[in-house]
Amino acid sequence: MQLSTKHLLGIRDLTPQDIGLILDTATQFKEVLQRPVKKVPTLRDVTIVNLFYENSTRTRMSFELAERRLSADVLNFAASSSSAAKGETLLDTVNNILSMKVDVVVMRHSASGAPHFLAKHIPAAIVNAGDGINEHPTQALLDAFSIREATGGLEGKKIAILGDIMHSRVALSNIYLLKKMGAEVMVAGPPTLIPKYMQQAFDIQVEYNLQKALEWCDVANVLRIQLERQNQVLFSSLREYNLAYGVKKSMLERLDKKIVVMHPGPINRGVEIDSDAADSSQSIILHQVENGVAVRMAVLYLLAGREN
Ligand code: CP
Repeated sequence: MQLSTKHLLGIRDLTPQDIGLILDTATQFKEVLQRPVKKVPTLRDVTIVNLFYENSTRTRMSFELAERRLSADVLNFAASSSSAAKGETLLDTVNNILSMKVDVVVMRHSASGAPHFLAKHIPAAIVNAGDGINEHPTQALLDAFSIREATGGLEGKKIAILGDIMHSRVALSNIYLLKKMGAEVMVAGPPTLIPKYMQQAFDIQVEYNLQKALEWCDVANVLRIQLERQNQVLFSSLREYNLAYGVKKSMLERLDKKIVVMHPGPINRGVEIDSDAADSSQSIILHQVENGVAVRMAVLYLLAGREN
């Protein structure tokens, strides 16, 4: 089996079969990562550039580790220390890198659609590592992998995505993926951070009361308040946000079931989630990070090995 697409630009473009193939392949790579020797020769002679125009800790390191575990040759590019800072365009930068015989471009950019633009102009396979407020497909895939691991499957599971939905590429990719895989989805948060079109456009539930959302769900995926993407006041203060929408251990303890708590990171502790919930036994936040390596190995393996 192979993926139906040459690039991974977004979950929107994937079929349920593509998603199942990536998650099943990641299961095999996770098994490899438990062995004493974690490196396999699968992508020997494949060259991958990690092109990061926006800050990242987890995604960049996770991709690099996945590439090295697969024995690929790895180039790292950070816009702030490159000639992009002297005014070189995205296309010139990428064409210069490709002339060094690069096969795959992993790209993060603050502009929504930047990887889609690149895909129209260059021959290399492109993996979107987060574009503006559009999509973050490998985050949604590792979230799905982690939900499957924690709960046994995706179909019929109730997933609540909490917080700053409006500015979140993680929310959009998760919604596409979870709906394609038969999960029930709710978004919850302040009305000012949930776009009005969402309920109808995606056939999902909307809830403005955090405790009710927690009572409904099997899994709560808590999102970071993205202050850097907000150019207007959308809530009164971080303290008041925490009072109304911060997930706390006391709230989890009031529920009549044990839900799973997730967060894509980075966490604003004491804002969207308190430490007692983030570090509780119900939290799988660090498992998500661990699973990211296996999921990205699967994506790179399936794209680099794809016959055109
Ligand atoms: N979850 C995530 O994308 O984290 P980074 O911004 O650190 O990569």
